Amino acid sequence: NTRVLTGITTSGTPHLGNYAGAIRPAVAASRRPGVESFYFLADYHALIKAQDPARVQRSTLEIAAAWLACGLDPDRVWFYRQSDIPEIPELTWLLTCVAGKGILNRAHAYKAAVDRNVAEHADPDAGVTAGLFMYPVLMAADILMFRANLVPVGRDQVQHIEMARDFAARFNHLYGEHFVLPEAAIDENVATLPGLDGRKMSKSYDNTIPLFAPKAELKKLIFSIVTDSRAPGESKDTEGSALFQLYQAFATPEQTAAFAQAFADGIGWGDAKQALLEVIDGEVAPLRERYQALIADPAAIEARLREGAAKARTIATPFMRELRHAVGLRDLG
Ligand code: TYM
Repeated sequence: NTRVLTGITTSGTPHLGNYAGAIRPAVAASRRPGVESFYFLADYHALIKAQDPARVQRSTLEIAAAWLACGLDPDRVWFYRQSDIPEIPELTWLLTCVAGKGILNRAHAYKAAVDRNVAEHADPDAGVTAGLFMYPVLMAADILMFRANLVPVGRDQVQHIEMARDFAARFNHLYGEHFVLPEAAIDENVATLPGLDGRKMSKSYDNTIPLFAPKAELKKLIFSIVTDSRAPGESKDTEGSALFQLYQAFATPEQTAAFAQAFADGIGWGDAKQALLEVIDGEVAPLRERYQALIADPAAIEARLREGAAKARTIATPFMRELRHAVGLRDLG
């Protein structure tokens, strides 16, 4: 059996990048025979970026509803909220004590914050919390707790999976073979979805398209995608075009080939944007309807998450007992 595990940070509204890069492939994977799936809401991770309680809570509801609207079947998938599993922060500490500080120094998010400070001649660690520094250790605990072998993520997360392997290998070397070494699974067809400005679609760049934006808002956002100044009739480049990449993520290969031809033939940007709107809305409209119904009943979602947590702890509680014992945290008598 393959164990697939992935999470989404509950620090904002789910966007098309989360959908195409994580939710859609994960739901598809959960339906394959021989696959056991663990999908969760990374709300402890959210506290690293979002120190606004109302926003974290709202995002948790939205992301839970998004998973369910996109077809996650909670009877088949282990679906839970990270902070409902107290064994996860407990395991984080055990891993902290085998994690090399030098490795954490190289983590992209931490390094980017330090580099920014240095460029501005500020103290290198100005505004950097220990939480940001420890981010990869918490993520390793998420993965190792459930002995996942495959972790489907966007390219931005691959370094974290490699760190989880490193911590797991060190722990196993010291204390015996307790952890499975996980591997990142990247869907080559998805890669990184660009946002409105052509950079990676990300909450931090404020360039996202919300997954469940009403069609009118979706249209407004799509028409604001940055394009070059070529007029209708002039041939357009598909290479490096955010518009084209977004289209490709939602279209069939045949539609994509036809769209590439239209670029070569000089389709106007307005027509190209309209085509993009139709292909995204075609896929998202039925999901949006289910989402609206789900989000209107937070108590039902809460109940599902609690059930999911109880089920996940049937793994986490005994495994944590095993790990405590392995490191010497044992009863004395
Ligand atoms: P997060 O919340 O930033 O993103 C969630 C998932 O969405 C993917 N993603 C994208 N994929 C393609 N194009 C984009 N523009 C795009 N933006 C986001 C991310 O790659 C990710 O798969 N640290 C993780 C959450 C996490 C986790 C874990 C993941 C916590 N513990 C354990 C896997 C396993 C994060 O911040 O993802």
